[in-house]
Amino acid sequence: MNMPAKGANEAPSCHGGLANLDEEYDYWVEDIDGSIPADLTGTFLRNGPGRQKIGGAPYGHWFDGDGMLSQFTFTDGKAHFKNRYVRTPKYVEETAAQKILYRGFGTQIPGGLLKNIFRFPANPANTSLIYHGGKLLALNEGGLPWELAMGSLETVGEYDYDGALAGKTFSAHGKVHPKTGDYFNFGAGMSGGRLKPQACLNLYRINPAGEMTGTGQIPLATFPFCHDFALSDRYAIYFINSIVVSGMGGFILGTRTISDGIHFDNAIPMRMLVVDLDTLEVVREFETDPGAIIHFGNAFEEGDEIVIDAMFQDNFEANETLTDVFNPNGRFGGGHYHRYRLNMSDGSIACSKVSEHESEFPVFNPAKAGQRHGVSWTACSIDNGASSFFNGISRVSYDGDVQLLTLPAGYYGSEPMFAPAQGATREDDGYVLDVVYDGYNHVSEVVVLRAEDLQDQVCTLKLKHHLPHQFHGQFLSQTFPL
Ligand SMILES: [Fe+2]
Repeated sequence: MNMPAKGANEAPSCHGGLANLDEEYDYWVEDIDGSIPADLTGTFLRNGPGRQKIGGAPYGHWFDGDGMLSQFTFTDGKAHFKNRYVRTPKYVEETAAQKILYRGFGTQIPGGLLKNIFRFPANPANTSLIYHGGKLLALNEGGLPWELAMGSLETVGEYDYDGALAGKTFSAHGKVHPKTGDYFNFGAGMSGGRLKPQACLNLYRINPAGEMTGTGQIPLATFPFCHDFALSDRYAIYFINSIVVSGMGGFILGTRTISDGIHFDNAIPMRMLVVDLDTLEVVREFETDPGAIIHFGNAFEEGDEIVIDAMFQDNFEANETLTDVFNPNGRFGGGHYHRYRLNMSDGSIACSKVSEHESEFPVFNPAKAGQRHGVSWTACSIDNGASSFFNGISRVSYDGDVQLLTLPAGYYGSEPMFAPAQGATREDDGYVLDVVYDGYNHVSEVVVLRAEDLQDQVCTLKLKHHLPHQFHGQFLSQTFPL
């Protein structure tokens, strides 16, 4: 990052980073500050809405922008960039028509009730991705995965695990168990058929060959807003939070969106459901004060307890901003880093705050998944005089020692990603990669930091264009033909 000449009060806001990137690129990055280290080899993939407007009209929610994958390939001290949109029907048809043709999570088709009645939201395939079982999948919790060809990022098509997911949804936050290589995921849905419909979570276990080898179902009293879960060695832990989804009748009749019916209810306690990974059945339930967890860090078992790192929040006011992302007064808020201890023996719960900084998108070395970890990294929102957005990265030790890197005002970050060095032997031997939007020049860059010391900025890859703010990604130690 080059420190800007302007003062913080004059810093550009985060909103330029929400502008469309309609072009698709394919090039070797030549503008690099510093040198790409020889032991940084692999593929850094990200997913996020590549456009928030079509024909000049904004979508009604950040979650409704069309999914665009970005791929950074690190090899032989060089870096290659490629981005491709997922060719969903929504993307293809709206690109041709240059207008909104599909409903979204918070978007209505222009034209009133008759245009929207009985229509369900399109799946924009925009939230995250997974490379598992030899398949690269773009994920959005509102529908099926979309398969893309690894390397070329060309769209293959919707993917349902040989029919196992037919008619179901698949969340963006599945997790790979490091011991078995099994990929665990879930989706919110309805059980009981038309005669006795009941909300539920569908649970999935997929083996390393990419075969669906286990399914489960958790009935719920109400439709959940459940975005992520925690995975320990033996358990999957679901937090059924105090964010409720109401007004589904109006949604079905076309008078309101799903997002319109989402609100935080301070009278609803947060429940935790502990699922045995072998049986995919709930083996213990807990209940605590109202709250919500959007994103989880690591989890592991210690004696009778399950220890769970989670970004806690006591409201969902951010949803107002997400429905109007270009509003200059909107505030992109996040949670705070907490740690829960669920005692499987006596049913008690303990909770403590790990970091004071507003934090989301926690990541850790995936080799430590399900075991006690030594360090996590998060995206932070720091008041530096510019508009609110992720503008910091924290390195948080297990014991809560925080190293905070605050970006200069006018620069905006994203979910950090840990990339292990080739041949690494220590948990944090490697790099933290962060896509940063430079609001001064309306371009983006990938900042490569040493994972053990965020002040050690190893190199910066400067793109020829901006990248719209993204949600999630994955780092793979392999490279693939481009
Ligand atoms: Fe997420």
